[in-house]
Amino acid sequence: MNVGIIGSGTMGSGIAQVAATSGCSVKLYDTNIDALHKAENTLDKILSRLIEKGRIDSAEKSRIQSNIDYVNSLDELGNSNLTIEAIVEDLDIKKKVFEHLETYVSEDCILASNTSSLSIASIASALKKPERCIGIHFFNPAPLMKLVEVVPAIQTSEEVLSKSVDVITNWKKTVAVAKDTPGFIVNRVARPYYGEALRIYEEGIADFATIDWSLKTIGGFRMGPFELMDFIGNDVNYAVTESVFTAFYFDSRYKPSFTQKRLAEAGYLGRKSGKGYYDYSEGTAKPNPTEDKILGDKIFNRVLVMLINEATDALFLNIASAEDIDNAMTKGVNYPKGLLAWADEIGIDNCVTTLDRLYDEYHEDRYRCSPLLRKMLRDKKTFF
Ligand code: NAI
Repeated sequence: MNVGIIGSGTMGSGIAQVAATSGCSVKLYDTNIDALHKAENTLDKILSRLIEKGRIDSAEKSRIQSNIDYVNSLDELGNSNLTIEAIVEDLDIKKKVFEHLETYVSEDCILASNTSSLSIASIASALKKPERCIGIHFFNPAPLMKLVEVVPAIQTSEEVLSKSVDVITNWKKTVAVAKDTPGFIVNRVARPYYGEALRIYEEGIADFATIDWSLKTIGGFRMGPFELMDFIGNDVNYAVTESVFTAFYFDSRYKPSFTQKRLAEAGYLGRKSGKGYYDYSEGTAKPNPTEDKILGDKIFNRVLVMLINEATDALFLNIASAEDIDNAMTKGVNYPKGLLAWADEIGIDNCVTTLDRLYDEYHEDRYRCSPLLRKMLRDKKTFF
């Protein structure tokens, strides 16, 4: 299979590695020659490291490398069966590239975008054959993260959807099919992990270290929300929250936080700038959490039910199936359990009671219980 990849940055080069490893013949295109050189050198280092770890041998390294051509002209992608675009997150630029690309490829080539936040329908509208356009959304780093969200636009044909799912499954990834709505599954359902943690901090209930301790030690999450935001970058994480908030017509439950905005404005971006919620300079010790079990349980339960509520609403609005929503969170962001399975485990009644208690306390729309959770409680149903 011939795969064309447009943009050889972080995501494009990772996707090229995945496709080449699966035996596809890849053309990796970028307008910037330096970006192509960097992608080639980085892949060489990654594959050498895999040899050191004993995961591949040098013949495998050569095979993967020989499957990728680094090209600087779009017409080289002419014989592709599938192209995946991973350039800057700018709708006008993406639309121009898609329009241009369509003039080179054959009638039945699938044109996919790796966008995180733009609508696939709007990108597809640039094409003469919009039914061939689809979202194929990898997570960073693409070779390591198991999940890929496949997002058909309203224009996408059934055939393009099923072919895309087959290709990504053959690349040994877990596919979650998502509706073309802001944040797809993961970037939507994960919002309360950050938002509710920030709110708990802003109310003065606990400090960053204690909230992180609660979610990690009691909840089993790999990273606490503040460690994670510092890892992602407060500028990037804030921008995603703001874009989801705007795209949902300012639904208050996605409301960004001033605490994070100020950090981003101050340049306290997290690990990459040496300071965020925590100080990463040499010799600085991490603050100790208050390891109070009652407080820790309270924090964990509040964040968990907010995540469950978001996952339930995604199911209620048919964004994806229950299986795909749970797979998306365990395989896309390494949650310890799927949120809907977690709801079954702690009890639907417990989720509804906790949410109603929060709503009664605050009278804010962000704490409204999903109609589906309430219905399930009434009908004595579980998700699985
Ligand atoms: P990046 O900045 O690392 O790479 C973008 C590359 O595209 C650069 O090498 C640039 O030279 C090239 N480029 C820009 N305009 C171009 C054009 N007109 N034609 C050809 N090449 C062009 O960006 P990154 O992080 O890889 O993101 C790419 C896409 O993937 C964006 O749509 C982003 O939203 C999405 N995405 C990013 C994730 C991440 O964690 N970085 C995760 C999932 C999706």
